[in-house]
Amino acid sequence: MRPSPAVTNVTNSWSIRSTPEMSSEQFELWKTLLEERTGMTLHPERKPFLENSLAVRMRELALEDYDDYYQQLVAGSTGAKAMEWSVLVDRLTVQETSFFRHPGSYALVEEYVQRFIDERPPKSSLDVWSVGCSTGEEPYSLAMVISEQFQARKSSDYYGITATDISLPTLAKARKAIYGSRKVERIDPALRERYFRQLNEREYQVQDALRDRVCFARLNVLDLQQAPIRDMDIIFCQNMLIYFRRWRKRQIVTRLAEKLAPGGMLVLGAGEITDWHHPDLERVHFADALAFRRCR
Ligand SMILES: C[S@@+](CC[C@H](N)C(=O)[O-])C[C@H]1O[C@@H](n2cnc3c(N)ncnc32)[C@H](O)[C@@H]1O
Repeated sequence: MRPSPAVTNVTNSWSIRSTPEMSSEQFELWKTLLEERTGMTLHPERKPFLENSLAVRMRELALEDYDDYYQQLVAGSTGAKAMEWSVLVDRLTVQETSFFRHPGSYALVEEYVQRFIDERPPKSSLDVWSVGCSTGEEPYSLAMVISEQFQARKSSDYYGITATDISLPTLAKARKAIYGSRKVERIDPALRERYFRQLNEREYQVQDALRDRVCFARLNVLDLQQAPIRDMDIIFCQNMLIYFRRWRKRQIVTRLAEKLAPGGMLVLGAGEITDWHHPDLERVHFADALAFRRCR
């Protein structure tokens, strides 16, 4: 395979550099490291993506060899390796997201919230978790749905959203809550009016009242057992498990199920898991959503 050219900015002058070719042994090493630490599997057709992403980072670090970079990540000092790993994970994970990405799942959340308000005693707390929240569009969409229902029903209940992701740079963007006009202008105008303020021609920011409802934290879903999160009313986990092997998906979904409060609901991406059952959960049939409710 011929090395592919890449454009780099070296001391302010643009130059063409080639991406070093990775041997199949090196690919296996990197693939295993990534899967062990994030759960994400890399199929062989993603090798050019891995080569390019690593090469860009290696140029930034003035490293020329995949093996040297690998050594730095596994054998460097604890703090330095953790920092470098955090940069790399951000480059290798897919952060694609949007507001109200899968409307059927949000319609289901809306129905759940209506029932929560009607059935629970006043001043109850609705606890929601967005797992793999990326740059924040998902938790803020959930916050808008819940806020709308609380206002419409003049509810005295409280709600809070915990939003977690493995990528620190992604979480930093989510906390800022600044989004491009193209993304925000696709939202229903009434919601846009209520929950965003326009900063300039190109950007909007989520209003503080909504931002205050969302608490962002770094969490690798491979470490769910140690996470001090429990008794959630809604766990929303979409478009993350698609990158994981079948056995791992099932293990993670089972651990998420254990974090639900009685009556709580787990909302996954449509079609993201098949043939999965949990003795305490029953399937929720609603439009094209894939969801389960904890019945005991
Ligand atoms: C494609 S985005 C999905 C975002 C959002 N849930 C949605 O549906 O629009 C997948 C997210 O999962 C995160 N992710 C990948 N592996 C993870 C892991 N092991 N633990 C936590 N988050 C992870 C990525 O950083 C990324 O932000």
